[in-house]
Amino acid sequence: MTTDGIRRLGIGLISAGWMGRLHSRAYLAIRDKYADWNIRPELIIVADPVAANTEAAQRQFGYRETTADYREVLAHPDVEAVSICAPNFLHRDFAVAAAQAGKPFWIEKPMGVSAAQSAEIVAAADSAGLVTGVGFTYRHAPAIEYAKELILSGALGRVTNLRCKLNADYSADPRGARTWRFERAKGGSGVLGDLLSHGFDLAQYLVGAPIALVSALTDTFIKERPLPGAGIGHNVQVADDAPLVPVENEDYAAVLARFAGGVVGTFESTRVGIGARCDYGIEIHGTAGALSWNFERMNEIEICSGPTARDYGYTRELSDARFGDFARFQPGAGMGLSFDDLKVIEGSRFVRSVVTGKQLAASAADALSTARIAAAAEESQESGAWAEVR
Ligand SMILES: NC(=O)c1ccc[n+]([C@@H]2O[C@H](COP(=O)([O-])OP(=O)(O)OC[C@H]3O[C@@H](n4cnc5c(N)ncnc54)[C@H](O)[C@@H]3O)[C@@H](O)[C@H]2O)c1
Repeated sequence: MTTDGIRRLGIGLISAGWMGRLHSRAYLAIRDKYADWNIRPELIIVADPVAANTEAAQRQFGYRETTADYREVLAHPDVEAVSICAPNFLHRDFAVAAAQAGKPFWIEKPMGVSAAQSAEIVAAADSAGLVTGVGFTYRHAPAIEYAKELILSGALGRVTNLRCKLNADYSADPRGARTWRFERAKGGSGVLGDLLSHGFDLAQYLVGAPIALVSALTDTFIKERPLPGAGIGHNVQVADDAPLVPVENEDYAAVLARFAGGVVGTFESTRVGIGARCDYGIEIHGTAGALSWNFERMNEIEICSGPTARDYGYTRELSDARFGDFARFQPGAGMGLSFDDLKVIEGSRFVRSVVTGKQLAASAADALSTARIAAAAEESQESGAWAEVR
């Protein structure tokens, strides 16, 4: 803390792709949207092997230094916390190294390429006594926080069942390149990790209990894709004559789940679903009511509860100050937040965790929990039987 009462927090960024840019924007926005916390993230150094990415990050966000080597971020004396926004296969090495350097980290999901890697990351963070943050972007959406309050207040009665979907079309084009996301060694699972990790986390967060048992089926509809050329993320180029190579993880997953405590649910996800843009939703039913939310209309929620619940079905409520952190972003009811704002909320939980030493954000342990559910789903797909989440 300095004499002006502001706690400055030195930030290092590892990987300046899409998520790296979003984390950077979030740190800067926290200064404004959460000004009353008197925490000022300072962007110190950014690492990425692609010089154009670090240069852009420096120009756009004001990082003081750039490097191609993530180890320079971890060794930097002014860096107190790091964001790890690398492709999945680099998460384990980067996060374990961050923990060993004593730097709390905010890491993207799915954390690592397997439950075993996620467990290594959790063990390293725990043995260093560090708080962590994970990119579970949807759990603090204002309408979801409102849903959580409703559930806790008993407005739905006893929660009995839920339906969660994460259906997208981002890989629906068969000419879309076979990037690292489609390789087992680099991406891990397909939609089970990339999309359903969000759904498992959201459902466990809202229900307040872990998923204990699953039965799953998975499939890969587009079995080969062209080798990528230059570029990053979803914007890689594909040459007309690029050879086709196998897709190594699933395009689609359906999961039946039983939670500890008895709630049951279904989860479905595709990354090749023509028509589904970001059709990410959850419906929760209880003995006295129900609610339904979809990311494509993230600033509203449908609710059915109260004395007339059985008579009239859902009514729509628009976001306002009752909804989570809504009022930090917008002054008027019904005004909208964006995906980027959700990252600001997520980042705020992380920086506050670092400053207070209390785990206030979705943690590495939460990410491990979703990785174990994905592993059980894969086991069930292989065996054709129900699988316990270990
Ligand atoms: N929370 C969410 O909603 C959400 C959304 C998209 C992606 N993600 C996750 O974020 C992570 C990154 O995804 P993305 O879409 O930003 O990918 P991206 O391809 O846009 O960016 C990845 C970056 O990592 C860099 N990189 C590669 N090797 C590196 C190394 N050795 N050291 C440092 N940086 C290196 C690349 O140059 C690139 O800039 C993934 O784990 C992904 O699953 C989360």
